[in-house]
Amino acid sequence: MLTGCQGAQSAFDPAGVEAERVLTLFWIMLAGGTAIWIVVIGVSYYAARGKSGPYSDRSGIRLIVWGGCVFPAVVLAGLLWWGLTMMPELRRAADGPTIAVSAERFWWRVAYAVEGEPGVIRNLPRGGVPSANEIWIPLGKRTEILLSSPDVIHSFWVPPLAGKMDAIPGRVNRLVLEPTRPGVFNGACAEYCGTAHTYMGFRVVVVPEAEFEAYVASQALPAATTDGSGARLFVQNGCAACHTVRGTAADGDVGPDLTHVASRRTIAAGLLPTTVENFAAFIRSAEHIKPGVEMPAFGILPEEEITAIAQWLGKLE
Ligand code: CUA
Repeated sequence: MLTGCQGAQSAFDPAGVEAERVLTLFWIMLAGGTAIWIVVIGVSYYAARGKSGPYSDRSGIRLIVWGGCVFPAVVLAGLLWWGLTMMPELRRAADGPTIAVSAERFWWRVAYAVEGEPGVIRNLPRGGVPSANEIWIPLGKRTEILLSSPDVIHSFWVPPLAGKMDAIPGRVNRLVLEPTRPGVFNGACAEYCGTAHTYMGFRVVVVPEAEFEAYVASQALPAATTDGSGARLFVQNGCAACHTVRGTAADGDVGPDLTHVASRRTIAAGLLPTTVENFAAFIRSAEHIKPGVEMPAFGILPEEEITAIAQWLGKLE
């Protein structure tokens, strides 16, 4: 069980201001709960095994009033007050970039807001600099994540960085991420949303601010390679109906933007490392790798065509 206490997806190994507060709250609740539990068990033991014979009405009523009413009221009111005073600080306005994130079935659409394009964010998640399933944020800044969804309710959760926030169709929720150290952290969908809910992961990459700026600028560029047989087959075989690769004829808006897919650590929403073999396997039969995925299998294509497409995708850094 202790292996769950550290690592890229553990709330016990915080790397963000909000996650640290949540963890402190957890430890205090756990310590308080344990202390009260020991007292209650002690009192029960005393009542069962201790002094026999009748108790006076007075001492019985005193125990109920103090132990059963006053004590829980004071403890719970104190915890409520403490929890409430924590909230304004956690919801303080961001001083860093704004990133729109749309939770889809079953992946994450990402758009980095661009200066002078404020309308982008209100109409989630079109516009901005598009990406998917990997979110870069700058160290030492408060990044605002604007969350929504076009289909069902999902929940955005990066345990080492912050608490959960739901992505709800028809509204925009905001969550502020303030990382305290660089690294790559795992995120997950924390609200059951359909068959592939379990496989709806993503990565958050925390880097120094200059590196973040350079990353967004590189993601804004068109694809590195836009010709060759892989690119042609991608469009011919219908991949372009769902996926965009900027700089080619592929401009589908249903699935993830693949313009820089090879620059991401994973494919299939955090499921597989980005390799040419994994691209090929996913094209052949996505359903076998990610049960419940919306992408159909393309195993009907000749193997050389799958390889050509996979090799081209592998070049899209
Ligand atoms: Cu999306 Cu669970």
